[in-house]
Amino acid sequence: MSIVTHLFTLIGAAVGSAFAWKLLQPEFIQRSPSRFLASAEKGRDGRPPVALVTGASAGIGVAFARQLARAGYDLVLVARRKDRLDALAASLRQQHTIEAHALPADLANADDIERVAGVAADVSEAGRLDLLINNAGFGTVGKYADLPFQSQLDMLHVHVTATMRLTKAALPGMLRRGRGGIINVASTAGWYPLPGNATYSATKRYLINFSESLQAELDGSGVCVQVLCPGFTYSEFHDREPYRASGFRRERLPAFMWQTAEEVAEASLNALGREVVCIPGVHNRAIALIGNFTPRALVNAAWQRISPV
Ligand SMILES: NC(=O)c1ccc[n+]([C@@H]2O[C@H](COP(=O)([O-])OP(=O)(O)OC[C@H]3O[C@@H](n4cnc5c(N)ncnc54)[C@H](OP(=O)(O)O)[C@@H]3O)[C@@H](O)[C@H]2O)c1
Repeated sequence: MSIVTHLFTLIGAAVGSAFAWKLLQPEFIQRSPSRFLASAEKGRDGRPPVALVTGASAGIGVAFARQLARAGYDLVLVARRKDRLDALAASLRQQHTIEAHALPADLANADDIERVAGVAADVSEAGRLDLLINNAGFGTVGKYADLPFQSQLDMLHVHVTATMRLTKAALPGMLRRGRGGIINVASTAGWYPLPGNATYSATKRYLINFSESLQAELDGSGVCVQVLCPGFTYSEFHDREPYRASGFRRERLPAFMWQTAEEVAEASLNALGREVVCIPGVHNRAIALIGNFTPRALVNAAWQRISPV
């Protein structure tokens, strides 16, 4: 073998190993629970830290709230459905010795975003906001040209504007304290273009770039940022109207493609402070990585063929 062949073999082996490491490492390396999953450290005033979770009336948001309550966090729970938030807050207060408050808000609405940002800023200024989880989100089904513009604008506000505003509100207090975590919930859909879900995939891409850039700006500050990119997850997401009306059926996708909301929330909390990009599940990491390196025309053509809607 010539020296050039040896060189290419070495480079191939190194790239292959790095790829395999990236795919497998979080599942197969046993780690002690991160500080966000272990029991919450009380502040100097003896009070537990606070986590503010948006989209806490269903799915992944509820899973985050339950796991954080178990760890001893006080909670501020945000979503539109007040009855759901009240019921969750009451049950978490009863099961764990924590405070949990419902903060009903429509994050597509500018006034509501400001109201929630005000609460986030106050709790953060008081030195108690340890965790902000920007999780609220929804999908639509159909071509951008055919969808009502308002639905796409609402999505932009819920996914992007609310995340930007709440992050801005939370940061000064966290930075002063030199401690805190921010999780922005994106999706594997942010790793490639998705015809039929153009705004969804674009807003989730925003969250990936925003979070990675922000973490680089915050390095050494004690505040950590994570972008969580789940794949298909059991929640109410695919039960909502646009998916129901489109005839979406979970069984059309193989069972291994689905994760529970609890698995996703646990992977995220465990990775916070350790990995900026958290993609739970080997299959999802493979999808994201391959999607990132494959020519766009091929990704588009493949998606049109396998899209479950
Ligand atoms: N499930 C999946 O397969 C999947 C995959 C990748 C990424 N994700 C992402 O994961 C996040 C959580 O979704 P999920 O799967 O848990 O779905 P879900 O069960 O439908 O929960 C979505 C949450 O977002 C809240 N929400 C939606 N619109 C809102 C608005 N205008 N204002 C305030 N809250 C709003 C909902 O509460 P209300 O309706 O009470 O307001 C609910 O609490 C989303 O960002 C989603 O994009 C999900």
